[in-house]
Amino acid sequence: MEKITVVGAGHVGATCAQLLGLKELAREIVLVDIVEGIPQGKALDQWESAPIEGFDSRVIGANDYGSTDGSELVVVTAGVARKPGMSRDDLLLTNANIVRGVTEEIVGRSPDAIIVMVTNPLDAMAYLAMKVSGFPRERVIGMAGVLDTARYRSFIAMELDVSVEDLQALVLGGHGDTMVPLVSYTTVSGIPLTQLLNRKRIDELVQRTRDGGAEIVRYLKTGSAYYAPAAAVVQMVESIVRDKKRILPCSACLQGEYGLDGIFLGVPCKLGASGLLEILEVELTAEERAALEKSAQAVRDSVAVLGAETFARAGA
Ligand code: APR
Repeated sequence: MEKITVVGAGHVGATCAQLLGLKELAREIVLVDIVEGIPQGKALDQWESAPIEGFDSRVIGANDYGSTDGSELVVVTAGVARKPGMSRDDLLLTNANIVRGVTEEIVGRSPDAIIVMVTNPLDAMAYLAMKVSGFPRERVIGMAGVLDTARYRSFIAMELDVSVEDLQALVLGGHGDTMVPLVSYTTVSGIPLTQLLNRKRIDELVQRTRDGGAEIVRYLKTGSAYYAPAAAVVQMVESIVRDKKRILPCSACLQGEYGLDGIFLGVPCKLGASGLLEILEVELTAEERAALEKSAQAVRDSVAVLGAETFARAGA
């Protein structure tokens, strides 16, 4: 890819830019933030690591969008992060204003871009970006499931003392307390997890996964997680840039899949060169389906808090 823009040069955005550079996923990586000096300083610092790390992606920082023109992919991390005691929904109104403004800038300058949304509350922000940009659903994808499954897999690997590489898992639903880890699709090198761990212990690990973000916030106190979130974004970007067609759990706009319509929710997605290639529908138990519906309702509730004018198309 020629150019990837990362909006928001905070913890998640800067870490994303660094990983994108290390993997040489674009010739140019533009880091944008409203705080003067921060994107320029972080970008220059990263570019100065290039001779040591041996990558040729040029990292550039800016406060305006001039240098983002013609980006093929834009990662949006701009916003405020959670503080202890805050839910992702507490961020809703503040971050909606930010995401709306950022999306308006992107649409005009990079009309063909694929947007990867990271700002929380994720599913509502992805919906907002799709509405404001007028982009098709193929080009607006939210990062949540890859992170949630990574947490789930890391906890199970610790518990069983096995390699994280051998863990396959799927987490559906909204990013947050209503996420739906699918225990029936969790395997260790093909062995169903239920044969290796008792149900009570699995339930405890599922709960720890649900609270995974809050656990990090409690430790950090002044912000939220960023190493694993940035790694998750970059895995999605890599599947797109290299047209790998990986099946990754992402937040995507459902159009009838899983019996839901016009709502962003975490589902298994195939990601390739044009963005979202396909949503895969997997069989769910009645319990999992009910949990997914509950999760969908939580996302609908967040979207309802934002007024209709928030979703008006840019320039319309
Ligand atoms: N345009 C560009 N950048 C902005 C804007 C804006 N309108 N508003 C805020 N920012 C920048 C801030 O200046 C800050 O540098 O977004 C950055 C956010 O960085 P952090 O506060 O470090 O937050 P971070 O941990 O990176 O999380 C960002 O991702 O995971 C989610 O919940 C998290 O919504 C949050 C987002």
